[in-house]
Amino acid sequence: MWFPYLLLAIAYLLGSFPTGYLVGRMAGIDIREHGSGSTGATNVWRNVGKFAGISVFAVDFAKGAIAIYVMQQANWLLTSFGLTANIAIDNLSLFVIGAGMLALIGHSRPVWLGFKGGKSVATGVGILFMLNWIVAIAAFSVWLATMAIWRTVSISSIAAATAAPIFMWTLQGNIVYSSFVTVGCMFVIWLHRSNIERILNGTELTFKSDSKA
Ligand code: G3P
Repeated sequence: MWFPYLLLAIAYLLGSFPTGYLVGRMAGIDIREHGSGSTGATNVWRNVGKFAGISVFAVDFAKGAIAIYVMQQANWLLTSFGLTANIAIDNLSLFVIGAGMLALIGHSRPVWLGFKGGKSVATGVGILFMLNWIVAIAAFSVWLATMAIWRTVSISSIAAATAAPIFMWTLQGNIVYSSFVTVGCMFVIWLHRSNIERILNGTELTFKSDSKA
């Protein structure tokens, strides 16, 4: 059945939409040459401004949420197109996590930017929100609490990505979704390896820094 595979390709393309890069271009800069070099919301906030950063976060969040939602509605979409709804529920949850993983990969490895993008945090929050909004809010609370202490986005993102799988395994009965959140969060933490190096060196960027990573 080709339809869910088409939706997987759409999930990657959605994730790869280069929001931060385009907002940077609108402000007259190549965001990849500033700050951390990431195309994510934090680096856009840092180098373009608060409103631009929040806008990039919102769109990148939506990319993840839509990728999951569309796959969750795959059977409904099939019947809407006059086709038979024939994706079994068990298989559907595998396609849903596939869509989530491809949206995460699309954001950090966008085909349009030579496979160099952001760190998939906002897109990951959008995905998590669709899988279990209580877990998403709990992880966001960890992000806020650590932000209040260290005032460094990467530390908060890593802390939230560490906490999210714990919340997921505790609060969510679905083993497939909990396993995916664990792998997805490990991927997000891995994308922060240059940040981890800077945190250990004491040279991590804040919202205001503009030195090249
Ligand atoms: O959401 C990404 C954030 O955790 C780190 O961003 O630009 O400081 O590497 P950046």
